[in-house]
Amino acid sequence: MKPNLILLAADGSEPSQKALDYAVLLAKSAPAKLLVLHVQKRHGRESIPPELAELERIEHIRVTEAEVLHGVAETVAATAEQQARAKGVAETGRVVVEGDPAREIIAAAKANNADTIVIGSRGLGDLEGLLLGSVSHKVAQAAPCTCVIVR
Ligand SMILES: Nc1ncnc2c1ncn2[C@@H]1O[C@H](COP(=O)(O)OP(=O)(O)O)[C@@H](O)[C@H]1O
Ligand SMILES: [Mg+2]
Repeated sequence: MKPNLILLAADGSEPSQKALDYAVLLAKSAPAKLLVLHVQKRHGRESIPPELAELERIEHIRVTEAEVLHGVAETVAATAEQQARAKGVAETGRVVVEGDPAREIIAAAKANNADTIVIGSRGLGDLEGLLLGSVSHKVAQAAPCTCVIVR
């Protein structure tokens, strides 16, 4: 069964990077379209990368929390999509939505008729020792299609 549309859940973490590499291999060999999805959290200034916080400090840019979070979210998705293209995937797309990551990943898989979800086993969370993060755990349970958890 050849995949037609692969949904990559990207959060900018190291494991998510490995998932990207796997999704790229799969997309190229099928060949299939690769859709990158990043779910922007509603709150959480702690998710702002230190470089961006530093830039804000130096440039005295006054931006609202929502603007910063949206900028970060767009960057995570755009970076992953550009990487996929640079690695040779012909057909790519990207989506940024806001909400609960697992819920939105499942919803996007259904809405876009994805046949494969590719997701990292862990993400940005720092609960050491866990084999699966809560997002990958929930998505694996509720996925409407094949779900590849990349380790
Ligand atoms: N906000 C998000 N948007 C898109 N994908 C995500 C998001 N958060 C996590 N993921 C996906 O889920 C994988 C596992 O992350 P997660 O379950 O959050 O683990 P952790 O608890 O270590 O952060 C990530 O590698 C990524 O593929
Ligand atoms: Mg996480």
